Order: sequence, then structure tokens, then C-alpha cells
Amino acid sequence: MTLRLAADQADRAAALLRAGDLVAFPTETVYGLGADARNARAVAAVFEAKGRPHFNPLICHFPDAEAAFAEVLPDARARALAEAFWPGPLTLVLPRRPECRVDLLAGAGLDTLAVRVPAHPVALALLRAAAVPVAGPSANRSGQVSPTTAAHVQDGLGGRIAAVLDGGPCEVGVESSVLDLAAGGAALLRHGGVPVEAIEAVIGPVARPIPLSTAAASRSLRSPGMMLSHYAPSLPVRLEAREVASDEALLAFGPPLPGAGAVWQMSDARDPTEAATRLFAGLRWLDAEGARLGLSRIAVMPVPMEGLGAAINDRLTRAAAPR
Ligand code: TXA
Ligand code: MG
Repeated sequence: MTLRLAADQADRAAALLRAGDLVAFPTETVYGLGADARNARAVAAVFEAKGRPHFNPLICHFPDAEAAFAEVLPDARARALAEAFWPGPLTLVLPRRPECRVDLLAGAGLDTLAVRVPAHPVALALLRAAAVPVAGPSANRSGQVSPTTAAHVQDGLGGRIAAVLDGGPCEVGVESSVLDLAAGGAALLRHGGVPVEAIEAVIGPVARPIPLSTAAASRSLRSPGMMLSHYAPSLPVRLEAREVASDEALLAFGPPLPGAGAVWQMSDARDPTEAATRLFAGLRWLDAEGARLGLSRIAVMPVPMEGLGAAINDRLTRAAAPR
């Protein structure tokens, strides 16, 4: 049985975390699967509950930059980015400090650690009350669509975790941008809630992830979580749809193509920020509706690369990748 905790029960959720239990919590991006990152058994239980490969490291969450930088070593760029974007959907990969308390398994044995300060009042209340680094991968089974509501978390992990703290639907809707500053340069490992152009406005040029379509991409992944097939609904996904058949479910961006068996609108006004908030819920809904109606796949209308469009297209490309 997984407890449903109301938004004002962050203290109770923090006590569960400190006791070694797993508690899903809301952030501005997606729901995270929280665990005390110092506790090796709790961290192992996160990998177990998600069915996540152990070589894929977890992000640690903190209530403020000071708490994060007590575990990792920031340089001037990291401090400038924290100043500009925290709390917010940016994750920084930095060298662990020798005194870092985070369990090695949480970081998959790497000498770096991914840290972030989420912009969500309920998450911040939880992190303050817990007063420990909180490991928080997205609160879904590995490879499946990330959760943007407490109900999505229950669907995927109900029965496997102690509780879910309900903070309502997530405002950003795609995960944080992951930026590696540990290797000297600045390399974006995952497109996410902060567009790369906004990061570059603070620290200058940033290396982009290798485009997913290249074979080299699957061989040279610096970020192990960036495996190709991910965010996968049960139905196959077809990208760049310019017409649609009656046996297809349509993920629409702007005026829907006519004739689909079911339609989910991401953004009528073709606004990528609005579309991001409705992306994962749409994949889930079309998957369920498609199964109910016997449809054969999900067709997706093209989304331009502007703003959060890069993060949206990244998730859609993975959803459509060969399984
Ligand atoms: O928005 C988010 O970031 C959400 C919310 C809950 O905060 N969390 C999330 O965590 O998306 P997760 O575990 O699903 O994704 C973490 C990503 C993975 O792609 C992982 O490989 C990468 O960050 N990562 C974590 N630590 C890393 C490290 N030390 N070096 C390189 N990549 C790392
Ligand atoms: Mg994830």
C-alpha cells in the first residue's frame, strides 16, 4: 500500500525519508522518487523499485545552493548558473567533494554528482525538513513515461513505495536540463526545462548532446540515462506526422490533423512551454485511449525546436525509438 500524503504533510514525508523509506514528491518538472541519498539500502531500493540499471546515476536534490555545494565542488560558472536558475529545472554535474555524504551507488560509482534545487514549494518544504541529500530520479518504472501527477506515480509505482506526496500537476512537465561542468568544458547531457540558449547567455558556449539519430550516439553516451528507448508508451510512436489515419491516436500541436481515432492537444496556440506541460500526460492518455479503442499507434505532429521544443523533441524521439 502506498500512502497518499497531502501537500501540507511534507514533515511526515521527510520523517519517512529519514527512516529509509521511499517517498515520491512533486517538483516543477516531474515527480521524483525520493530516498535518503546517504542511506545505501534506501538508494538500492530506488533502483529496485524503478527497475533501473545500476550504471545509471541519480540526481540529488537540495533546498538551496549552499546545501548542494556542501557535497560537490562548484566553479565560478556553477555559482553563476545556480544564481541565475536555482531554484529551477537545471541539474549540474560537478566533482564530488571528498567529504560528500552521498552513497556511491547513488552516483553509480562516478567521481561526479548531479545536483539540483527544484522550484516547487512542496519539494522545498520536504528537502528542508529532511535535511539530507535526497536522491530523486523520475518516479516511474525505468523506460516508461515520466509522471506529472501523483496519480501517474500510483499507476507505475503504487505498492512499491511507502508514500507519494501530492503537490498537484507539475508546471514545467519535462525533466531538468542536465549540464556537465565536471570535465572542464560545459556539455549539455540532456535537454530539459532550461533551454540551452538561456544557459549560454550566462556561461557562453555549451556543447550539445550528440543527435539521437546517429549510431555514434548509442555508443558514446556520457550520461547513461540517455539510452535511446525511453519514455515509451505501449503503442508504437510515429513522428513528424503530416497526415493521420483513423486507426491512429494523434498527439497534436496546433490545429489537429483531421481523421484521427483519438486526439490529445498539447498546445492549440503552438506554444512549446504549454506543450511541455501536457506532453507526458498526453502520451499516457493516448496510450490508454488507443488500447481501449484498438488503435494501432500514436502519431505526433511536428514541434519546432524553439525554447522547450528541444526537450520535447528529445523525449518524443526516445518514445519512438526501436524497443
Ligand atoms: O527534472 C528532473 O531532473 C527529475 C526531477 C525528479 O528532479 N529527475 C530526473 O532524474 O529526471 P532521472 O534520474 O530520471 O534522470 C537523471 C539524469 C539521467 O539521465 C542520468 O544519467 C543523469 O541525469 N546523471 C545523473 N548523475 C549523473 C552524473 N554524475 N554524470 C552524468 N549524468 C548523470
Ligand atoms: Mg527518468
